Amino acid sequence: MSDESTSITIAIIGGTGKEGSGLARRWAKHGYHVFIGSRDRDRAVETASAINDELGSNVVVGGLNEDAASVGDIVVLSVPYSAHRSTLESIKQAVQGKILVDVTVPTPFPQAVHIPAGLSAAQEAQAYLGEGVRVVSAFQNVSASKLKNVDEAMDTDVLVCGDDAKAKDEVLAIVRSAGMRGLDAGPLANSVASEALTAVLYYINRKYKSKGAGVRITGVNV
Ligand SMILES: NC(=O)c1ccc[n+]([C@@H]2O[C@H](COP(=O)([O-])OP(=O)(O)OC[C@H]3O[C@@H](n4cnc5c(N)ncnc54)[C@H](OP(=O)(O)O)[C@@H]3O)[C@@H](O)[C@H]2O)c1
Repeated sequence: MSDESTSITIAIIGGTGKEGSGLARRWAKHGYHVFIGSRDRDRAVETASAINDELGSNVVVGGLNEDAASVGDIVVLSVPYSAHRSTLESIKQAVQGKILVDVTVPTPFPQAVHIPAGLSAAQEAQAYLGEGVRVVSAFQNVSASKLKNVDEAMDTDVLVCGDDAKAKDEVLAIVRSAGMRGLDAGPLANSVASEALTAVLYYINRKYKSKGAGVRITGVNV
């Protein structure tokens, strides 16, 4: 655990969900302060308390999504695509000046690639939030089923896309802290590929009766 990690608060919008709570566990285990956001304060507090009990920690707190977005140094968005725009509307002001890490995958048909009107959820977030927010996409290919057991090593890579190099470096640091290898996968426009890959992984999970298919990039030593 580093000084840097103990001084940063990672807020997770939709942190009561499968993916967000899994990421929360990994970051809390590393020592970050984690703020679980929800539309329902009680649900967020319950989730935070359950994670603290599980880890024997006190670094996780919960509250409304809007409060999470205000408190977080880095704000992670992890909601179903159907709730993506409305959730962004609720946190737009609070995230100005911050990094927003978009985990959202636009998959109304989970096992087939769906390209949304704005090409990717992450690009739609950037277009809606404006230049005051540095949107970085990451974690779309990480299975919640792998995240939830913090004693299990993560054998997956995380493709990190964004247009701001410093913001990507900060996100790559929290990827490492969550126990995964992060790779700078280019500009935010490349989120089209990383978001689309999730539909392929869903298909592979179903086809081979697995739960935790992920991506591993070969030929790169980082
Ligand atoms: N699950 C995975 O393995 C996985 C892997 C990679 C990427 N993803 C992506 O990560 C995102 C989150 O996935 P998830 O599996 O964690 O989803 P989830 O559990 O279904 O939902 C996450 C949270 O979003 C909030 N939410 C749900 N419906 C909403 C609505 N209509 N309006 C506003 N908020 C709503 C809920 O929080 P409150 O009710 O507490 O507000 C919920 O706990 C998705 O875009 C998914 O495609 C998931």
